Amino acid sequence: MAGLSGKRVLLVIGGGIAAYKTLDLIRRLRERGAGVRAVLTRAAEQLVTPLSVASLTGAKVHQDLFSLTDEAEMGHIELSRAADLVVIAPATADLLAKVAHGLANDLASTILLATDKKALAAPAMNLRMWLHPATQRNIARLREDGMLFVGPDEGEMACGEFGPGRMSEPLAIVAAIETALANETALPLPAGIGARSTGILAGKTVVVTSGPTHEPIDPVRYIANRSSGKQGHAIARAAAEAGARVTLVSGPVSVPDPAGVSVVRVETARDMQRAVEAALPADIFVAAAAVADWRVEAEARGKIKKGADRPPTLPLVENPDILAAVSKMRAGRPRLVVGFAAETEQVVDHAKAKLARKGCDLIVANDVSPASGVMGGARNTVHLVGASGVESWPELDKDEVARRLVARMAGLLQGHVRS
Ligand code: C5P
Repeated sequence: MAGLSGKRVLLVIGGGIAAYKTLDLIRRLRERGAGVRAVLTRAAEQLVTPLSVASLTGAKVHQDLFSLTDEAEMGHIELSRAADLVVIAPATADLLAKVAHGLANDLASTILLATDKKALAAPAMNLRMWLHPATQRNIARLREDGMLFVGPDEGEMACGEFGPGRMSEPLAIVAAIETALANETALPLPAGIGARSTGILAGKTVVVTSGPTHEPIDPVRYIANRSSGKQGHAIARAAAEAGARVTLVSGPVSVPDPAGVSVVRVETARDMQRAVEAALPADIFVAAAAVADWRVEAEARGKIKKGADRPPTLPLVENPDILAAVSKMRAGRPRLVVGFAAETEQVVDHAKAKLARKGCDLIVANDVSPASGVMGGARNTVHLVGASGVESWPELDKDEVARRLVARMAGLLQGHVRS
């Protein structure tokens, strides 16, 4: 039932009669574990109330481009990016025409232009509007631009006519969402953008892992850790800002996707390993994720019940070590492989041992004891452990650690400095 667990859908509700079906769509998505944020166009407000949408999504509904409170809480750019997929339902002829032509004169169209994620549209309109050459031209253009479509279906319409134009049923839209999410949902940037021609990592490719992994015990429980993804995401962002083409392989986190970065979302260590393998080759690999060391040997198919007798024992098996595997690649090893060492004691000594054991070029070691406040916090104190020794940095903002690390990695690639 939780097939969309942890997925984030940004739902743009256009002003079609079919908007009433979108209420059911929200319910179906939430039943499957997806988080839904909704944007209503002015016309949609005439058909469904913001209050009913807010009650079903359990979140604030966004309606205004120029809302000061909304912009302060979550700006429209962030709103357009902090989702795994944007869904337009109903997608009216007017809204599709706007997107096809790049218009951005309200919140919905601005979000659709600013997003770096794929959008899935469920068109709904009168059949003559659907068949009109202008609409068909717009659809063809949008398909070329990467927009996905579900429907419209053929049938009796609210206006009494019969033909194509009915919005697909909610369950068909859910199925299309599941398919879309199973594939890459980040929109590729055109060549040359994202790999800027200027910057210290211009023309380089970087793969970063970030966040925790979740290792399922049964359909409702999992093993996890307190990693927030802030440091890994900051590194991905800093590398993109330095001109690199970046793929961020992220475990489940609540921090927003960094702009200009291709994000691949994963749940388990084994998913993360597969995603890293798919993202290579790269010039630099940074393993900042807190990968779970173990998973349960066999995930229970049903929820493990609390019995009258003793609690269950959960045999564990070791997860693949992604950092060690990439460091030891015979062919196609990234030129620079950087690992992290989160320790609660003897931070530097453990990091030195890890550098040798894993075979990477650099270890960024940090103290994650509860007193340090590093896990989930905004600041970090790190020690760079490489072949040539140890360098300790003062306590810094995680963004600043990221920028300095990117500068160091660029120097190492160019051979100016030794690890
Ligand atoms: O062995 P330990 O977990 O302390 O090593 C930490 C480093 O190794 C981090 O860079 C982490 O991302 C990476 N790692 C990994 N795969 C694992 C365990 C750790 O890539 N299964």
